[in-house]
Amino acid sequence: MAPNTLLVVLLVGAVAAPRAAAELPRLEHPPTKADGSLTVLAVGDWGRRGQFNQSLVAEQMGKIGEKMDVDFVVSVGDNFYKNGLTGVDDKAFEESFTNIYTSESLQKPCQQINPNVNKSDSLTLAVLGNHDYRGDALAQLSPVLRKLDNRWICMKSFVVNAEVAEFFFVDTTPFVLKYWNEPKDSTYDWRGVAPRETYIANLLKDLDAALKRSKATWKIVVGHHAIRSVSEHGDTQELVQQLLPVLKANRVDLYINGHDHCLEHISSRDSSLQYLTSGGGSKAWRGIFTPNTDRLEFFYDGQGFMSLQLTNTEARLAFYDVAGTVLHSWGLTKGAYY
Ligand SMILES: *[C@@H]1O[C@H](CO)[C@@H](O)[C@H](O)[C@H]1NC(C)=O
Ligand SMILES: *[C@@H]1O[C@H](CO)[C@@H](O)[C@H](O)[C@H]1NC(C)=O
Repeated sequence: MAPNTLLVVLLVGAVAAPRAAAELPRLEHPPTKADGSLTVLAVGDWGRRGQFNQSLVAEQMGKIGEKMDVDFVVSVGDNFYKNGLTGVDDKAFEESFTNIYTSESLQKPCQQINPNVNKSDSLTLAVLGNHDYRGDALAQLSPVLRKLDNRWICMKSFVVNAEVAEFFFVDTTPFVLKYWNEPKDSTYDWRGVAPRETYIANLLKDLDAALKRSKATWKIVVGHHAIRSVSEHGDTQELVQQLLPVLKANRVDLYINGHDHCLEHISSRDSSLQYLTSGGGSKAWRGIFTPNTDRLEFFYDGQGFMSLQLTNTEARLAFYDVAGTVLHSWGLTKGAYY
C-alpha cells in the first residue's frame, strides 16, 4: 500500500533525554472507510491480568468493536497495575494486554501506522498513567514490546492524524505536584522528564503549536488524569490551571481521560468542550460522588468503556458496561460555519 512508506512512525527519540520544545511525534492514520469516517474505542485503568472484570470489559470491547468496525483503541493510561512494568521482559505485558484483548475485531490490520507488520495490529494507542510511572516507564515505550505484540504503541505525548479528527495525546502525570513532592512509598520514573517545570512548559508549547496547525474537523485531547471529575480523585487542579486554557483557546472538542475508575460525561458551561472519563477497564465501584460546577451529563461508578464515531459533520459517543449495554449516548453536529 503506497502510503505506508510515508508513515514510518517516529517511534524513536524523545525517550531518554529531557524533552526540549520540539514538534510532537506524529502518526498518520489515513481513513480506512470509504466515507472517511472514523471509529475508536477508549478504555483506561485496565492491566490486572483479567481480574476485576477486565476480561469481561475486553470481551465486550471485542463485540462492540466488531459491530462498529473500529479503527483503533485508545488507552488512557494506568496500563499495568500496580506499578507499571518492571522492564520489557515483564510478563504482565502479555498477561494483562496480549492475552486479554484477544477478539478478532481488535486484531485488524492497520498497516498505515506500523508498516513493519503483516497482520494483527489494530493498534492500541496508549499514554502512561501515574501507576505506569511507578515502574520502568521507558519500558512501555520500547520497540521490544511492539515486537511481542505489534498492536502496542505507547508514547508519552504524540499526535495521531486521522484526517476527520486529530488526537493529541498528552503526558499528564508530570503535571501532578504531589507525585514529585509527596511520593509516599512510590518511586516515580522521571527519566526524561525532570526538571518538571521545563518539561511542562515545553509540552504545553508543543501542544499549542500542534493544535493551531490542525485542520481536522474534530480536535480530541487524550490524557490520563481528569480535568473534571465527580468521582474519587475529582478535578486535577494542575490541569485546570495549565492544560485547560490551551484546550479552550484552541477550541478542542473532547478531552478523554481515565484515572478515576468510572465512566463520566461532563459538559463545560463556558465552552463547547466535553470532558469524558473512560477509566472503567478493570477495578471500579469506588462509591464516591462529588458534583462540580460544570454540567454532569452522565456518571456510572462501574466498569466499562467508550466508543466514538466521527464524520465530517457529526460526533457520536457512547458508554458501555460489562454486559455491552449502552448506558449513555450523545451526539454533536458541526455545520459549515465552523
Ligand atoms: C463484575 O461484573 C459483574 C456483572 O455485572 C458484577 O456482578 C460484579 O460485581 C463485577 N465484579 C467486580 C469485581 O467488580
Ligand atoms: C511478512 O510476511 C512475509 C511473507 O510471509 C515475510 O517474508 C516477511 O518477513 C513478513 N514481514 C514481517 C515484518 O514480519
